[in-house]
Formats: sequence, structure tokens, C-alpha cells
Amino acid sequence: MESNKKIVITGVSGFIGKNLSIYLKSKGYQIIGIDVVGEGENCDYFYLGTFNDKNIKEKALNGAEVVFHLGSIVGVDKCQNESALVKQVNFLETISFFDTCVEMGVKKIIFSSSSEIYGNSKDLPYKEDAIVTPISLYAQCKRDVEAHLKKISENTDVKVCIPRFFNVYGPGQRADFVVTKFINLVKNNQNIEIYGTGLQTRSHTYVGDVVNALEKMISYNKNSYEIMNIGSTFEYSMNEVAKTILDLFPNSKSKIEYVDYGSNGTRDVFLEIDRRVPLTTKAEKILNFKATTDLREGVEKIIKSIT
Ligand SMILES: NC(=O)c1ccc[n+]([C@@H]2O[C@H](COP(=O)([O-])OP(=O)(O)OC[C@H]3O[C@@H](n4cnc5c(N)ncnc54)[C@H](O)[C@@H]3O)[C@@H](O)[C@H]2O)c1
Repeated sequence: MESNKKIVITGVSGFIGKNLSIYLKSKGYQIIGIDVVGEGENCDYFYLGTFNDKNIKEKALNGAEVVFHLGSIVGVDKCQNESALVKQVNFLETISFFDTCVEMGVKKIIFSSSSEIYGNSKDLPYKEDAIVTPISLYAQCKRDVEAHLKKISENTDVKVCIPRFFNVYGPGQRADFVVTKFINLVKNNQNIEIYGTGLQTRSHTYVGDVVNALEKMISYNKNSYEIMNIGSTFEYSMNEVAKTILDLFPNSKSKIEYVDYGSNGTRDVFLEIDRRVPLTTKAEKILNFKATTDLREGVEKIIKSIT
């Protein structure tokens, strides 16, 4: 354990940020949080405001060794509908924040990228050095920030680690993300709506595994720029996700309903990705990290946290 290291977490009130701050605090790190919402309950010091506010970022970054940048507008569909704001926050303000990290002498930047960056590539499982073909604006911003960080790592002494997360789920996630959404529906005897055939798959990754990987990145120091898939090798179709949850609520009256993409304001089919599976050997080798929580176990943990 490397206690007392000053760690800055942007987006600390969000789903991953909250889980990460609880975990790192329990390990003895000093946590400085920034978020536009929340109260920073797991932080040693909390700044309420945007990460790119000059006053906030300069104070928060002063003496910080490692920065986890999780603050972002999230949700592929939401980002598509708010393009000007998303370009502003997820790209322009993000790179400006990183430039300040360099000026303030931060030693390492850990930036939350996404498996969305691989687009609908059929070259599976996804490997970190593949040419990425993002479809959505959300993913295009992630790609462009990754490129900016590569330049920072080449031109300065700052080390950069980029986890590309694969469908993280767990306690405290926003209600519009699939696992949490399905649990809430089934708990309340409402039907689950699945777009298309339900055969589209994801590698749902439990947040407890993710924070474990993120902590390992703090002490990883071999290369100055490293992208790592942080995902589970368990792959589930949407149908399997729904059935796992229905199975854990045996008294629920909910059923699965199939709906067309694009109907009633649902996701456009062009934004959908059929199958998304990471190659995880890089993180296994250099971080000694492997996600071990399967979907049933993860869903049981969420149910326990809300009942
Ligand atoms: N959850 C996933 O499956 C997943 C997958 C891939 C990548 N990611 C990335 O991981 C990061 C965290 O995701 P999450 O699931 O915790 O999302 P989240 O929405 O729960 O958390 C994001 C947090 O960022 C904060 N935020 C937004 N704009 C801000 C600003 N300008 N200044 C300060 N804070 C701001 C929000 O208030 C929120 O608390 C994001 O960058 C997201 O793109 C998440």
C-alpha cells in the first residue's frame, strides 16, 4: 500500500468515482474530489464545481501525484443529443484540464476511456493496438483525448494510463444503465424492453473489479503511455442479462418485451454495437489484473445493496 499519496478524482460523485474513492480511502490514500454535484463524502477535500474551473483545478492539483479523470458527460444517446456541450466538456475542457495537470507537476494521469471507441469493429476480441473506429460523438471525444494524452506523454515527464472500460455495472449506478434499469423494472413488476433481438452482447464488468484495476495503475510505471482494456471476459447477451435478473426475482411478474430500434424515442440502430469483447491479456500481464466477478454474483451484490 502507498498511503498518503495525494490523489485527485474528477467525477468523484459519479458511479465509478464514488466506488473508487471509497476503495482508495480504505487503502490510506488522500483523496481530493471534484464534481459538479454531491458532497464529497468519501474525500479528504471536495471541490464542488467543474474540473476546468481555474481556481478549483489549480488548488486541487497542487501537490497531487496522480489524477483520475472520470468527470464527463456520459451516455451514448445523451451525448448524441447534446453535441455542442459534449464537445466542450468531454474534449475541449478535458484537454485544457490535462494541460493544467502538466503545468502543476502531476506525475500520472489516468483517463477513463471506453470500449465504445472500437465502434462496430468485427475484429474481435478488441485489442488495444487496433485502429479504432468510433461511431458516436461520445466515443470520438474519447479517441481525441487519448491522442492529446499521447502527445503529453511524448513531450513531458507525465505518465499516462488509459483504461478502456467495458460496460461497468454495480451498486450506485445511474438508473438508465442497463443492469440497474432491468433490476428496477423487475423489482417493480414492470416489463423489460429489449431493442432488436436481444442477441447483442456485452462484457459486463463489475465495478469492484474495475476499482481494483485502477488502484494497480497508480503504481504501474513501466511505460509512459499505456492503454489497457479493463473488462470482463464473461460475455452476456441482453437476453441473458434479463434472464439472470428475472431468475433472481422469482416472484416478479415482469416479462421480456422486444421493441424495434428507434421506436418511442429508443436508440437509433446505427449507434448499436452487436458484440463487444475485450482481449484482456495486456492488463493480466502488466497489471496482474483479471476481472473475476460474474454477472449473477454482481447482480446479487446490487440487489443486496438496495434491499
Ligand atoms: N460506467 C461505464 O460503463 C463506463 C464505460 C466506459 C467509460 N466510462 C467512463 O468512466 C467515467 C465515469 O463514468 P461513470 O459511469 O462513473 O459516470 P457518472 O455519470 O456516474 O459519473 C460522471 C461524473 O462526472 C461528473 N461531471 C460531469 N461533468 C463534470 C464537470 N464538468 N466537472 C466535474 N464533474 C463533472 C458528473 O456530475 C458525475 O458525477 C466517465 O468518463 C465515463 O465516460 C464509464
